[in-house]
Formats: sequence, structure tokens, C-alpha cells
Amino acid sequence: MQQATPPRRELGDQIAINAAHARHELASCLSRQIATLPPKYFYDTQGSKLFEAICELDEYYLTRTEARILSQNLAAIAQRAGADVALIDLGAGNCAKAFKLLARLRVRHYVPVDISTAFLSEAVKTLAQAYPDLEIHPVALDFSERFALPAAVQALPNKLFFYPGSSLGNFSPVQARLFLETLRAAGGDLLIGLDLVKPAAMLEAAYDDALGVTAAFNRNVLRQTNHLLGSDFDLASWRHKAVFNADHSRVEMHLQAATACHVSWPGGGRDFAAGETIHTENCYKFTCTGIEEMLHSAGFSDIACWSDPDDAYLVCHARAG
Ligand code: AVJ
Repeated sequence: MQQATPPRRELGDQIAINAAHARHELASCLSRQIATLPPKYFYDTQGSKLFEAICELDEYYLTRTEARILSQNLAAIAQRAGADVALIDLGAGNCAKAFKLLARLRVRHYVPVDISTAFLSEAVKTLAQAYPDLEIHPVALDFSERFALPAAVQALPNKLFFYPGSSLGNFSPVQARLFLETLRAAGGDLLIGLDLVKPAAMLEAAYDDALGVTAAFNRNVLRQTNHLLGSDFDLASWRHKAVFNADHSRVEMHLQAATACHVSWPGGGRDFAAGETIHTENCYKFTCTGIEEMLHSAGFSDIACWSDPDDAYLVCHARAG
């Protein structure tokens, strides 16, 4: 169990990924018939910076659409959230999204949760200066593995889980339901942003931008894998692929070997044929009715949803009950 984290603790020495576990997980994912790499390994410091750059891209409409929906509906959201909110920011990253909420919601405790600890600690410093009265409890956690809040955080009243960015879309539908049930069981209300289904060309452009930032973000997982596993991936010989799989309602990201190659790591290795792929990410796309059903089936009630004029994206507030 993770210990309760005191406010404003330095996170520089904390790692949310256990090195031995990471080696085992990476080797076993790469050894599957169709090789995979878990998307959480995108977010080393370099990857977190690339993701920030993705959020600024013309093609990547998600971040700015969500920000617009949030800012246009802040009064209603603040009203539903009430006073003395404990805002638990799941995948806080640079804390930029929460920064805007903090200005309008009556937040007493802010709990940024992220796997990328170095990145989080920088962001938290800036935030603490801007909001000196806020109680900040950073949590370094890989919640794709297990969700365990420090007891001190779990005990806070009026918890609001903030899960923006359509990050829930990285889970399979079954995992997503289970994760939402876990949040509901922890007794928190939910403010979530999810990307909606739209024409494949728009979705694919969002994940395969003209500048090649998403390609670099995808390839960076090989760099991080080389670092953690000790493998010898040659980044330049892997091509970025992003395709919308309509049957599963998800954008898939893959890395495709340009030529046949052998990749080795301590205690193992694997041959890749030319054209063979590593599946690196699924980004599920939702419908409004699908989202409401999912939230209800996870036990949430009194759901309010807001969208943009093009119905590209949905933000929902739901109560734990
Ligand atoms: C952080 C998972 C929400 O799915 O859009 C962006 C990750 N991958 N571009 C997404 C991502 C490629 C992003 N999430």
C-alpha cells in the first residue's frame, strides 16, 4: 500500500514505475504473438513534453475543444461541485487543465495523480505559488495497474475525480467500466471528458499530424523501452501508423518495422519481419448515449453533459450517489 503523501512533498526521488516490474511487463508484451507496448510507457519526461506539443497541434482538436466546453460551463460545474472540493486530478501531467478549474471551483484540496513524477513535481511548484492557500497532495501512481488512494486523501469529504482528455479511452470498454466502478466505490463525484466518434479522416489526422509530433511521441516509447528493458530498438527503422478501427470504435496506434530486424534485451529478444507491427495504443471513441449508459452501469447518477457546437467532444459531471 502506498503511504499517505504529506502536502508539497518533493517528488523528485519517487518513481511510480517499479523497475523490475517494468522489465517483466515490457518483455512479456513484446513477446506476444502480436507485440504490444503499454501506453503508460509513453510518459517519461520527453514523452510528456511531446504530449504537451500534441495538445497544441491544429489536428489534435481534443484538448482545445475540452477546454472550451469546460470554460463555457464553469458556472454550472462549480454549482454542482459545491464548496470545499477535494479535486483529484487523474493523470494531472502539467496540471494546466486543473489550473483553470482551481480559479473557479471552490477547491480546498488538490490531489494531482500522475505516473510521470518528475513532470508532476515541476508543475506542482508553479501551482503552489499561484494558489498559496490550496492544500496540495501529489500522488505518484500508475493507476492503470491498481487504484489506491492514500488514506488521508480517501478520507477527504466532497471528492471530485477529474478525468479529462479522453484518457479513459485508453482502457478497453470492460476495463473502463471497472475503473469507473472503482472511482464510484471510492465515493467521489466525477468530472470526465471524452472524445466522440466522428469521420475516420478527422480522427486519423488527430493521431497522425503533418508535423510528425505524434509519430515522435509514438517512437519515443521505443526509447523508453530501451532505457527500462535494456533493448536495442533502432528508432529510425520504425514507422508510425494511426488507423481508426470502426468495429471497435477506437483509433489504434502502431509502430511498423520498415525492414526485418532482430531486437534483443537482457534474457530475451525477438525477430520482426518487414512490415510487422507493435500495437502501442488504443484510443476509444464514444457516443453520448454510450457514455451515459457506461456511467450509469458504473453506479453514477444525476449525470449532466455538455458538448461543443460540432458535437466533437463531451464533458460530463456525475454523482457517486
Ligand atoms: C492521453 C490517451 C487521451 O488518446 O488522445 C494522443 C494520447 N496518443 N495522441 C489520446 C494520445 C496520441 C491521448 N490520451
